[in-house]
Amino acid sequence: MPTFAVTHALPEAALALLRQAGELRDDPAGADAVLTLLGDRVDGEFLDAAGPQLRCVANVAVGFDNVDLAAAAERGVVVTNTPGVLDDATADLTMALLLAAVRRLGEGERLIRAGRRWRWGIDFMLGSDLRGKLLEIVGLGAIGTRVAERARAFGMEIAYRNRHPAPAAAALEAERLELDELLAASDVVSLHCPLTDETRHLIGARELGLMKPTATLVNTARGPVVDERALAAALAAGEIAAAGLDVYEHEPEVEPALLELENVVLLPHLGSATVETRTAMAELAARNAIAVARGEPALTPVPLRLT
Ligand code: GLV
Repeated sequence: MPTFAVTHALPEAALALLRQAGELRDDPAGADAVLTLLGDRVDGEFLDAAGPQLRCVANVAVGFDNVDLAAAAERGVVVTNTPGVLDDATADLTMALLLAAVRRLGEGERLIRAGRRWRWGIDFMLGSDLRGKLLEIVGLGAIGTRVAERARAFGMEIAYRNRHPAPAAAALEAERLELDELLAASDVVSLHCPLTDETRHLIGARELGLMKPTATLVNTARGPVVDERALAAALAAGEIAAAGLDVYEHEPEVEPALLELENVVLLPHLGSATVETRTAMAELAARNAIAVARGEPALTPVPLRLT
């Protein structure tokens, strides 16, 4: 009977699957498979503390930048993630953040809650239309594609930046451009790439400087893809118009300069935060853990590479 461990409480449906398939406990030490969250640092130390019997780390997230893949590969540990099941929830949240930033929802809410005097005015708190505007998707994968589909329904044009041409691009009538070209042309830039050595600080002072002063940046991917200090400076200086952030460079810390600004909407990493989606993520992680513990192939393994 395999042993499973969870580092945090998970939806009951996933725990029930694990209990059915083996013994469930909180301590990874001695477990065959452990279910982790994106806030868990899964490195050599974590894996060694779990012990040499460990076969699988099932990360309950699509991102796996919290896992040291080389350390897992060296120890013969399979790492799995939860692709697919969170695409719609994350795309919905991205549109919510995009609209909130472009139409100044946070600022409006703060004004009402502060009890400040206001009245409808022809030039009061104006944002921008979406129809006819260019949305740049950085990383046209599964989530980026769902965002682009939604944005098309709002009348936006799509361009994207990927290392390779994306199969979804034709249906979206999306042109693939180099990042600098895209930044200069776009009205909204939305980040959907994974965090890797190549994408860390992909958007810094230079890139923000290329963007239009009317442009909006949205990040529902990973915080360190953006240089948060440079973003705060660009927003304060009016180099870009607005930003919507769901993720932070030093999560859960937020760059203090951002908190002073009206033109940034800040959410506490809610991309996949719906009851249905979080349940589906936890269930998929549980199924991965069970499969690997039984010696079967994982359902959704992440590619392991030795550094
Ligand atoms: C959330 O950020 C995830 O990677 O699933």
